[in-house]
Order: sequence, then C-alpha cells, then structure tokens
Amino acid sequence: MKIGNIELKNNLILAPMAGVTDVGFRSLAISYGADYAVGEMVSAKALKYKNKKTADLLITAPNESIKVAQIFGSDPKIMASIVKSKYLNKFDIIDINMGCPAPKIVKNGEGSALMQNIELAEQIVSECVKASTKPITVKFRAGWNNNINAVEFAKMCERAGASAITIHGRTREQFYAGKSDLELIKQVKQAVNIPVIGNGDVVDVESYNAMLKTGVDAVMVGRGALGNPEIFAELTGKKVEVNKFEDIKKHISILREHYPEHLVVKEMRKHILWYLKGYHNCTEIKNQVVREKDINKVLEILKNFFENNKKRESN
Ligand SMILES: Cc1cc2nc3c(=O)[nH]c(=O)nc-3n(C[C@H](O)[C@H](O)[C@H](O)COP(=O)(O)O)c2cc1C
Repeated sequence: MKIGNIELKNNLILAPMAGVTDVGFRSLAISYGADYAVGEMVSAKALKYKNKKTADLLITAPNESIKVAQIFGSDPKIMASIVKSKYLNKFDIIDINMGCPAPKIVKNGEGSALMQNIELAEQIVSECVKASTKPITVKFRAGWNNNINAVEFAKMCERAGASAITIHGRTREQFYAGKSDLELIKQVKQAVNIPVIGNGDVVDVESYNAMLKTGVDAVMVGRGALGNPEIFAELTGKKVEVNKFEDIKKHISILREHYPEHLVVKEMRKHILWYLKGYHNCTEIKNQVVREKDINKVLEILKNFFENNKKRESN
C-alpha cells in the first residue's frame, strides 16, 4: 500500500506509544520488519514554545527510512504552523492524534475529545493538509463514549485531505479494556477510498489474520510489540534467530547516543521488564534491574542472566 507517494513493503506499523516508542525501540521494530514506527505523540503547543524535552522526542534512527511524527493539539493554526516548522522538516509523514483518551489531554479538547467536535477536527486536518507538502494521516478511535462515529469521522478525514487513517476499534471510555471492534473497522474501511490502517489487539498471527479479514490496507501493532519487536518478523512469516540480550544491548546503545545515562536507565527499566517476560527465574533479576542506576551494571546483570539461562537450557 501507499501513503501519498510512500510505498510500504510489509504493511506493518509500530503504533505510537507515549513513554515507550523511543528511538531505540522503533529502530528494533523496523529491523524486524515494521515499515515504519510512529514516534511518541508530541504536543504542537509545546513545540511552539520550543520545549526542549518535547523536541528531544523527535530524534530518529538511521534505519527509519520512513520517518513518522505524531502531533496532538486542538488549535488548527498552531497545528498547521508546527506541520511546516523546522521540527518536522525531516519527517516523511505527519500523523495527527485524535484518539488519546488520557484525561490530561481530553480536558484540553485534544486527542479523542476531537471526536466529539468533528467540525474542529476537520479544520485541524484541512489546515494541516494545506500547510504540508507531505502526507497527513489521522489516528482515532471508535468514538467518544457511546457516540460511535468512526465511520463519519473517517469520511471527514478523507474530505479534509488526509492521506490515510488509523482506526483503533475502542471508544474513548474503554481506554484499553474490552476488545477492538473489528466489525466497525470493516465498516470504516468500506466507507472511504484512502488507505485504512487497522489497530487494536494484534498480538500474534491469529489476531493479525482476524484484523486482515476486515479488509484494512495495513496493520498497526502496539502492546503486542512490547518486549517483542520480533513480532513484525513473525507476522511477515520471516524466521529469525532472536537474541534478546543483543536486542537489549542494541536498544541501550541507540539511546546512549542521544540521551544522558540517567535517562537511559530510567527509560530502559520498563523495557527490560517487558523483554524478560516469559523467562523463568527472572524475578530477582527484575528486582536488581529496577534498583540499578548504572547502565553498565544493568548490562552485566543481564549478561549473566542470559548466559546462565542458556546453560540451564542446554543441560
Ligand atoms: C503506553 C501506551 C501509550 C500510548 N501512546 C499513544 C500515543 O502517543 N499516540 C497514539 O495515537 N496512541 C497511543 N497509544 C495507543 C496505541 O497506539 C494503540 O492505538 C493501542 O495500544 C491499541 O493497539 P494495541 O492493542 O496493538 O496495543 C498508546 C498506548 C499505550 C499502551
């Protein structure tokens, strides 16, 4: 499938996840077969005020051949000015977040709150499209609480000039509970002519095939990739030799290129807990990792753990 002129190979995308899809994790997902990986959502307003922490979220890795930034906000003028600002210069696609359910976002009328205000949402999309030389995409949910308006919202995005849309088949009220509504995703796909990316609950080949049955053009994977970036190889049917320790080392080394050690340690804690999921006898290691402040010591702990694990397996 194509987004604007940008061709995807595997039609697989790593979902944006705030606090998770850092540059190291995105790079790993791409190395396993994701066409692109959406960075953590960034506030258009914060960029307008030159917030350094926000700008630092826009760092990309060399293997990100398709670079995608996601912005959020509710002011069409600010959103459009950021789309054409220096901050987003290097990006190939700009995604607009209209699905975030977090109270601190929706209370400002941003994220999924825009699903209640379709006129304003349309203004935002069309101003961003007008301001941009690159494809603008929109990510949204099934609807705002009981008002399931994803089909109408999808049509609005198409009318406003979006190059593709991503639909996560849950309402705002559901946050991440219940199931992503595949029937609704199918209806959205049938309602528009722009590419539709299906999202929600894809964690293995079976759930991936169920998503493909809706007719979507591409699939976006979020939580199924946590500690498991190799899911993208699994879904493309590619057999790969996974070396968790090497992946963790790679993840850390990419982060170290860009961020100070204390931030790398903090960022990696949650990732390491996910990477260790499913390993036997890892409780003590997890406890050690979350207490450790030196990244080299974290690596040493993990090296010993994986070596001992290998020995145990071969006995
Ligand atoms: C920790 C976390 C952070 C998230 N942050 C974002 C975000 O920044 N932007 C966004 O559009 N969606 C965000 N999401 C939603 C995911 O992109 C995705 O739509 C959702 O997790 C459903 O897909 P999944 O079932 O494959 O995880 C986040 C989800 C999680 C779990």
